[in-house]
Amino acid sequence: MSDLPERISLREVGPRDGLQNEAPVPTEAKVRLLDALSQTGVQRIEAVSFVSPRAIPAMADADEVWAAFAHEAGITYSALVPNLRGATRALEAGCLDIEAVVSASDTHNRANLNRSTAESLDDIAKVIALAHERGAVCHVTVSTAWGCPYEGDVPVGRVVEVARRAVADGADGLSFGDTTGMATPTRVTELIGEIRSALPDVPVNLHFHNTRGTGLANVLAALQLGVADFDASVGGLGGCPYAPGASGNIASEELVHMVEDMGVATGVDLEALIEVARLAERIVGRELPSQVLRAGPRTRRSTYHGPL
Ligand code: COA
Ligand code: ZN
Repeated sequence: MSDLPERISLREVGPRDGLQNEAPVPTEAKVRLLDALSQTGVQRIEAVSFVSPRAIPAMADADEVWAAFAHEAGITYSALVPNLRGATRALEAGCLDIEAVVSASDTHNRANLNRSTAESLDDIAKVIALAHERGAVCHVTVSTAWGCPYEGDVPVGRVVEVARRAVADGADGLSFGDTTGMATPTRVTELIGEIRSALPDVPVNLHFHNTRGTGLANVLAALQLGVADFDASVGGLGGCPYAPGASGNIASEELVHMVEDMGVATGVDLEALIEVARLAERIVGRELPSQVLRAGPRTRRSTYHGPL
């Protein structure tokens, strides 16, 4: 394991990917969550998405949220956008790190963005150009990179093709999303290998959902290939309670807990993050799936009260 990266950069996506899949919570609670996350040592936070309020009611207050939370120096706060309108809103709000999203599978892209993958890629070219014109960076997230809930397996070649196009149009980096938790370690190794061959110099971030319990195994496979940028959500927030089988991102504190013990630094204070996961539970009013939240770090000791 000597070739693991020395450190990773965790992007906390609970305030966006997590909360968009929970029953809507008040603006003030979102701000409280963001401010608490900013005190944990996390260096990247996906704060909101500037999307249609009809598509995602939980993000209708993105402008208010963006204006209200404390933007700490040293933390990159990003926003997800689905189109040029979203990018314009993000830039007007003062966001300098934009994530444009597109699904590798056409059917999912139509369900999510009401247009084909090709149409979204055309939009993204304009989003990237606008972001650069305004001095912002634009990363492109390729969703359904390991499978689509409607189409099943998505050919690796298709994902590479979408990635190549985004990079040709000026994307500053790529993120690959396992939107519905269909990735396994061998599939992660395969896709990363192909992306590295096709686009050797492009920064890669990975976004796993733990829908089928393979989230951290996928991280390990990627770490062994030197990938060092991962999305995760505090408490494992997300996973719409109304969508059967849906589940949240890998839990931030589980990611930190695992990799730190393997000698990979995160810069994140694990106990502080666990406290924020408790706050997230209070905000959404339900128990979150993170097991490190339940059990505590591996070195946490219980008090012995004598034989049971
Ligand atoms: N922010 C706010 N409003 C937006 C918007 C944005 N980024 N983009 C479009 N709208 C508004 C339009 O102004 C229009 O409003 P109106 O009916 O009051 O005139 C309405 O939404 C429809 O616009 P249109 O361009 O026809 O969009 P659409 O209905 O085809 O929906 C998307 C396309 C992309 C806007 C919508 O599907 C969306 O926001 N999806 C995001 C889904 C998501 O966040 N998924 C999870 C993250 S991957
Ligand atoms: Zn996601």
